[in-house]
Amino acid sequence: MDRYGVFGNPIGHSKSPLIHRLFAQQTGEQLSYEALLAPLEDFSGFARAFFAEGKGGNVTVPFKEQAYQLADSLTARAQRAGAVNTLKKLDDGRLLGDNTDGAGLVHDLTVNAGVALKGKRILLLGAGGAVRGVLEPLLAEQPAALVIANRTVAKAEQLAREFADLGPVVASGFDWIDASVDLIVNGTSASLAGELPPIAPSLIAPGHTLCYDMMYGKQPTAFNRWASEHGAARTLDGLGMLVEQAAEAFFLWRGVRPDSAPVLAELRRQLA
Ligand SMILES: NC(=O)c1ccc[n+]([C@@H]2O[C@H](COP(=O)([O-])OP(=O)(O)OC[C@H]3O[C@@H](n4cnc5c(N)ncnc54)[C@H](OP(=O)(O)O)[C@@H]3O)[C@@H](O)[C@H]2O)c1
Repeated sequence: MDRYGVFGNPIGHSKSPLIHRLFAQQTGEQLSYEALLAPLEDFSGFARAFFAEGKGGNVTVPFKEQAYQLADSLTARAQRAGAVNTLKKLDDGRLLGDNTDGAGLVHDLTVNAGVALKGKRILLLGAGGAVRGVLEPLLAEQPAALVIANRTVAKAEQLAREFADLGPVVASGFDWIDASVDLIVNGTSASLAGELPPIAPSLIAPGHTLCYDMMYGKQPTAFNRWASEHGAARTLDGLGMLVEQAAEAFFLWRGVRPDSAPVLAELRRQLA
């Protein structure tokens, strides 16, 4: 049976094995998928040993940059992101690196939530790996403006410079912006600690602004609770992004696109 897995450290919490098992069941693809605890000091040795037999893998914290270095060739979107979340062993044995995180977010927003991004004013909070991975697919939707706001402003400025050729992207600190936007995407890890990026409530146009937290949990995240309290039209969490980035990886490996809706519903049921 073809072998797949997700590399991370820690990895016990990962929902990827469940998602890919459900995709395999649904599509009738014969494969195994396991959680792989890679050692912090030797990701590349561990991954190379796995790929002696393994066909593909997902990569999560903290190895996405190392996977980018490990890959023998890269898709254009992985090259842009500077990070790899999906590896595929090609027929000649070389490893292809891809990044499906951004496609996952855009699919969740545009298809699952039915939100067109063209012409919209988007505020992206954070300037870490997740934000870097979503910038190219978001700019490809042709927003009117995309502001990257980060606690460490220099990191937002660096990203804005790197992606300026793809669309209208500018950098900011949290306290420089207060005019309302159409969409706020929280790509900071603040919610992990139950914290909020210190942004102005006036960024939300009551009844209009959509707020999306890349984090997810059993309960609404701190950011989504804050957004609802200030009148956001809708709040969405990152569970859909997680399932959609996985569907994109599954398609890269198997050439079959799974139906993500029942898998997302099952994950939501289990989370509750
Ligand atoms: N749903 C999905 O499929 C998916 C996929 C990828 C990531 N994610 C989520 O996205 C989030 C970010 O992940 P990442 O890999 O980008 O992490 P990362 O590279 O470590 O970056 C963390 C970012 O959060 C900011 N930050 C951390 N604590 C903060 C606080 N208390 N207040 C304000 N800003 C804060 C950091 O700002 P500084 O630069 O100033 O330190 C940085 O911009 C995580 O919650 C992760 O779970 C979800």
